[in-house]
Parts: sequence; C-alpha cells; structure tokens
Amino acid sequence: MSSDTLYGRLGGYDAIVSVVDDLLARLKADAQLGRFWQHRGEDGVLRERQLLINFLCSSAGGSLMYVGRDMKTAHKGMGIECAESGSYAYGGWPDIDELYRKQLAETDHAKREAMLHQIQKTLHERTRFAPIYDFFWPSGIGPRVEEASLMKIDPFPWSAPLEDVRLKRP
Ligand code: HEM
Repeated sequence: MSSDTLYGRLGGYDAIVSVVDDLLARLKADAQLGRFWQHRGEDGVLRERQLLINFLCSSAGGSLMYVGRDMKTAHKGMGIECAESGSYAYGGWPDIDELYRKQLAETDHAKREAMLHQIQKTLHERTRFAPIYDFFWPSGIGPRVEEASLMKIDPFPWSAPLEDVRLKRP
C-alpha cells in the first residue's frame, strides 16, 4: 500500500474500519452521546457506519468516494455544542465556554441568538487543527494482532511501517 498519502500512512481501509468500530462502540455507550444511537434501525446505523468509513477514507486521500451529506446538513439541529464540558471535548477557549454558559441561562431569545452567533463567529475566525490520533509509540501487541511489525526497521523497536501491521481475521 502506498504510504504517500495520509490514507496509506494511517494503515488504509482496514485500519480506518477498526478506528470507526472502536469509536462507534464507545459513543453508543457514552452517557451524554448514547442518545444519538437509541431507537434507530440496525440498517440505518450500518449505513451511517459505512458513510463515516468512506468519509474518513476519502478525506485522507484514499480512492473511495463519499456519497453522503455534507457535515453541516447531516448534523444540523442535533444540538451538538462546542463547549469544554462536552464528552471527549478538550482544548477549548474560556471566552467561548463563558458565552456557552451564559446563553444556557438567557431567557431573551434575541440576546441568546446573538450569543450563539458570537460563538459561531469566534469559532470560525480561529482556525484549529484537531489531532486525529494521539501521538504515541505504536506497539501493535494484543490478542487481535497477527503481525505486530516490531523491529522491522531495526533498531526502531515499535510497530513500523504501520501499514504492515495486520489484524487476525475473525
Ligand atoms: C458529537 C459529535 C457527533 C454526533 C453526536 C454525531 C451524530 C451523528 C448522527 C446521529 C448521524 C446520523 C444522521 C442521520 O441519520 O440523519 C451522523 C451522520 C454522520 N456523521 Fe456524525 N456525529 C458527530 C460528529 C461527527 C464527526 C466529527 C464526523 C466526521 C469525522 C461525523 C461524520 C458523519 C457522517 C459521515 C455521517 C453520515 C452523513 C449522511 O448520513 O449522509 N460525525 N452523525
């Protein structure tokens, strides 16, 4: 597999599928986020899983086409917020968190709308880069791993190249 693209360096299709399955299982079990997956048909959830896989593959430069909706349309109206207090949220800004708290208590619609617009405007103006994986020394060791690729690039003692790490087939 080519390691020229981010897709190749991440480990390609199988690696992205593992990340998505791991993530979805944790999201469904999450106290705050689990509600988004309750009372949904199995087929709809499977369709969404595949769309997420294709979205990540195509965004990383893989040769898959994403045919789903854009992120804004797909998530509009779900009440997904950007405050530091949210599940898995970190690295926010105190001024945005403060505005978020204030708008929760504001009863005047116009004032609340203005605060929400201010939050969106500030977020839009500040460019952020979100890490899509944590920096760590990768050691592909565990019961699901068939080939850990340790010491293939001697003397680097961790798993490398990552695209050579293979999971056991069920
Ligand atoms: C707290 C954050 C998020 C929640 C609660 C959430 C929840 C959902 C839900 C419930 C759907 C199904 C919508 C429907 O069937 O109408 C969906 C669709 C989707 N989400 Fe998210 N999502 C979140 C963040 C993200 C992020 C960060 C990404 C991208 C990396 C993403 C990618 C997608 C994709 C590709 C779809 C399918 C779009 C389509 O149906 O056309 N989501 N999301």
